[in-house]
Amino acid sequence: MTPLRTKRLILRNWEERDRPLFHRINSDERVMEFFPFRRDRAQSDALFDGLRDGIARRGFGFAAVEIDMTGECIGFVGLHPAEYLEPFLPKDTIEIGWRLAPEFWGKGYVTEAAETHLAHGFEIFGFDEIVSFAVAGNGRSTAVMERIGMRRDAAGDFDHPRVPDTHPHLKRHVLYRLARSDWEARTGRPDSLRCGGSVLSRKRQFVPLLGLRGRHSFEDGGEIIA
Ligand SMILES: CC(C)(COP(=O)(O)OP(=O)(O)OC[C@H]1O[C@@H](n2cnc3c(N)ncnc32)[C@H](O)[C@@H]1OP(=O)(O)O)[C@@H](O)C(=O)NCCC(=O)NCCS
Repeated sequence: MTPLRTKRLILRNWEERDRPLFHRINSDERVMEFFPFRRDRAQSDALFDGLRDGIARRGFGFAAVEIDMTGECIGFVGLHPAEYLEPFLPKDTIEIGWRLAPEFWGKGYVTEAAETHLAHGFEIFGFDEIVSFAVAGNGRSTAVMERIGMRRDAAGDFDHPRVPDTHPHLKRHVLYRLARSDWEARTGRPDSLRCGGSVLSRKRQFVPLLGLRGRHSFEDGGEIIA
């Protein structure tokens, strides 16, 4: 993955120095309020390795978010294959997701990172649609979805198959969708990608797209990030 720059952030693959932060966000009660599992350091490291390898292999994934000014890693935002959610979502579904250390909430970092990942997904990878989902009560997460222009698809709500029966209140998930055409209409950017402050011609830089338009499969199951 080529690091992406936003106004305040660098979005990049994971580095060794990020492991402690990654463990903290995967074990913190506040961060994990809407997830059934907490991870010890060994489990966190295994997930870290999977995410890092997946990003290196396919060019995208739940990627580290670093504050440009300080070099500090604060969590992750990224696109991810949601291949494990059949029959609720087709095997080639791409989701966008996020998880930040709590001291960095409320500053707009997630929205800023997510907007850039959406642009990358639609303009570089050529995805036709990106979805997101969350436990129904996770208002902070659905607020991000709404801020970045996603729309609720109530007919698509589902009980997450990876949430065990011991946590019935975390099963029901609400589904949000964003089609490429709606993203283009909202951002007015069908022909160019604003990247690192410069406008790159899609024709010159990104044609052909990475061959992922339409049906695709990454055949790695997508790391389970619950
Ligand atoms: C969900 C989560 C990522 C959202 O983080 P967040 O900080 O609320 O989201 P943003 O970074 O987009 O910040 C938006 C907030 O910053 C404020 N803000 C401040 N400066 C801003 C700026 N420059 N631009 C946009 N918003 C800004 C917004 O007003 C908003 O505040 P509010 O919460 O009072 O309404 C975070 O709560 C989290 O990590 N939760 C735990 C993990 C989790 O549940 N993940 C999702 C699973 S589906």
